[in-house]
Amino acid sequence: EGFDVVVVGSCMTDLVSQAPRLPKAGETIHGHKFFIGFGGKGANQCVQAARLGAKAAMVCKVGQDFFGENYIQNFKNNGIATEFVGQTAKAATGAASIIVNDAGENAIVIVAGANMLLGAEELRRAEPALGGAKVLICQLEISPDTSLQALSMARERQVRTIFNPAPAVPDLHPDFYRYSDVFCCNEPEAELLTGMAVGSVEDAGKVGAELLGRGCGSVIVTLGPQGCVVLSSQDPTPRHIATTTVTALDTTGAGDSFIGALAFYMADYPTMPLEEMARRANQVAAVSVQAVGTQTSYPFRKDLPKDLF
Ligand code: RIB
Ligand code: NA
Repeated sequence: EGFDVVVVGSCMTDLVSQAPRLPKAGETIHGHKFFIGFGGKGANQCVQAARLGAKAAMVCKVGQDFFGENYIQNFKNNGIATEFVGQTAKAATGAASIIVNDAGENAIVIVAGANMLLGAEELRRAEPALGGAKVLICQLEISPDTSLQALSMARERQVRTIFNPAPAVPDLHPDFYRYSDVFCCNEPEAELLTGMAVGSVEDAGKVGAELLGRGCGSVIVTLGPQGCVVLSSQDPTPRHIATTTVTALDTTGAGDSFIGALAFYMADYPTMPLEEMARRANQVAAVSVQAVGTQTSYPFRKDLPKDLF
């Protein structure tokens, strides 16, 4: 109880190959490095929030296997509460096969496994923690019903919600918009959800307005090196929040770093304008793209400029 940030979401073991480019269908190419890391959008966001100083808890499911055991230890190492991390013998810990090219771009296939077995029973058990949290974050790497139920529980209890529709589906249940205080997605996700192409900051403002019209409190469309666009029901004019130019080594999980940071600011600086939170979250995510890996690249509070706090 008394958590700043609760995440109801996914854990994945990231199996990462670095290669000069992404292979084509039927093609084999040589890569130069392979490593295993802790990933999954839900866990990534939780870890970034915790590293900035949020008191965080994770509600998730892993397998009764080596990867699951390791993941629980990873949460502990990051100071994240694990009493709502379940283990199941019915499925394996989620896995993500990731290829990162020399431009730092990636392609990912996830096999959600145990993540899909997180359901109503686990939510009921986590209800006191969820209901007492300042911010709840959900994504789409678990069953969508579970995400929707968690968001609805948060809404009933005046907990602020961030919803990240990733990986995106074209026919998202309309309640996801209504239950989102902040609806945060990237360009391809925005395109899939609206059928509108996003090729510029201006386009991002237009899709943002479309998504806002579906009932969200506010919308953030992240734009990689271009920062993000922010709009809200109180101020529906799209605002472009630019970010610092950096050399990207690995952008995997940069969006999760942004969302974890955003949740930290929403919880710890409740009166800060959303645009300022987004500006600071941009800075945190910009640090993450300059190092290899997902969570391994996420900065701690002590490593960041003081003016971000
Ligand atoms: O957003 C990045 C994450 O997506 C990776 O860590 C991978 O696990 C996939 O879930
Ligand atoms: Na990174």
